[in-house]
Amino acid sequence: MEKKSNNDGLRVVLFPLPLQGCISPMLQLAKILHSKGFSITVIHTRFNAPKASSHPLFNFLQIEDGLSETEINEDPTSNVMSLLAQINRNAESPFLDCLQKLLLQSQERITCLIDDCGWLFTQSVSESLNLPRMVLCTFKATFLNAYPIIPLLRTKGYLPVSDSEAEDSVLEFPPLQKRDLLRVVGEDEEELGPFLRVTVETTMRSSGLIFMSCEELEKDSLSIANEIFKVPIFAVGPFHGYFSASSSSLFAQDETCVPWLDNQEDKSVIYVSLGSVVNISESEFLEIAYGLNNSKQPFLWVVRPGLVRGAEWIELLTEELVNSLGEKGKIVKWAPQQDVLAHRAIGGFLTHNGWNSTLESICEGVPMICLPGGWDQMLNSRFVSDIWKVGIHLEGRIDRNEIEKAVKMLMVESEGETIRERMNVLKDEIARSVKHGGSSSRSIETLANHILSL
Ligand code: UDX
Repeated sequence: MEKKSNNDGLRVVLFPLPLQGCISPMLQLAKILHSKGFSITVIHTRFNAPKASSHPLFNFLQIEDGLSETEINEDPTSNVMSLLAQINRNAESPFLDCLQKLLLQSQERITCLIDDCGWLFTQSVSESLNLPRMVLCTFKATFLNAYPIIPLLRTKGYLPVSDSEAEDSVLEFPPLQKRDLLRVVGEDEEELGPFLRVTVETTMRSSGLIFMSCEELEKDSLSIANEIFKVPIFAVGPFHGYFSASSSSLFAQDETCVPWLDNQEDKSVIYVSLGSVVNISESEFLEIAYGLNNSKQPFLWVVRPGLVRGAEWIELLTEELVNSLGEKGKIVKWAPQQDVLAHRAIGGFLTHNGWNSTLESICEGVPMICLPGGWDQMLNSRFVSDIWKVGIHLEGRIDRNEIEKAVKMLMVESEGETIRERMNVLKDEIARSVKHGGSSSRSIETLANHILSL
């Protein structure tokens, strides 16, 4: 990316939510803004602190988040909603103190704060300090646009969903199907409703909304976002098209994946990963293991410690199954995902469809098998399977036969070939958006000028 130096002396402060799927995009955005000449300070919580040493060009300031050692060791991400509520309660005052000091001491003009739409107190804090705030949304614009209506869907009589209605569209929230709804609205109205309302209201008071997406992936979602939030909108993604997310990894990446892939045939390996937050049961884990084993297709499987509820790692697999799996595949705790997806040996991605994983897969032209866990993943997976038609949806069936069938269909059958061709077209379209003159690249210029004008 071309470097501009006319913004020297101007600093932007960034404040990511402490989740892998939110830290990586914020640091990628930091690199984009730095390449446009802005100095960068990242304020972050103690929990899931990014590695400052991987980003020597940025300043990092840590604040307390009020989480105890016991809470951190128990993996607070196992209940993301309550983690968000807790750190939103705890971090306000340390954040205010930190930002206030920074504003007093900075040699450069601090132009604005950019933070995640999941922070609920930052708009009030920035208003109290007279500092413009911009909001980064790390998921698809279509999903944020649904925030005002998600609590209302509960009262529409859609739930519970009968089998005969399961595939019907949710009219207010296309292309979501009624069977996806419960895993978006969740069981607990009390926590979700106020969270969504405050997010909408504070975003409307902000100085702008930045999406990790581009016009080509959003179509009219961007103008709808503009109508709902009434602030300037910038679709400057996919960030992976500019800078890799790997330097922001919170976990040690098992680099042995790459030489292992070097020994595999072109487009023969199915990569399996469910991101940094999703949990599955012991029986679901075993079904995936048998499904991969029975498919006879080479695989690279990320089993993150904590992925399987009640298990440390892969100890549930029998010795016989481990040996059988070892003949065809490789299991690791965490992979250098973007390098893996870019490898010529990868032919498919069995994914939970987190927005980062979905974008990384599109940027590398890898077709998907969709196994969303909940929240925005339900919508992303519908776009992948029903709108862009670059993947096969498992419809939540974590069953060995279904997994075997989907892997074979994607990797060796003619249907997989058609999906792969469509994915190549989408990949090229998105690659154009991040090139000089493309929609995303132009939007970055507009964003840099907007920040200068604040
Ligand atoms: C969360 C939400 O679940 C997701 O729905 C939302 O869109 C973003 O926040 P997460 O579940 O972690 O994120 O998924 P995802 O958005 O896909 O992000 C995971 C990141 O971890 C990706 O950048 C991926 O490259 C990286 N990763 C994953 C690795 O580097 N190695 C791995 O082994 C697995």
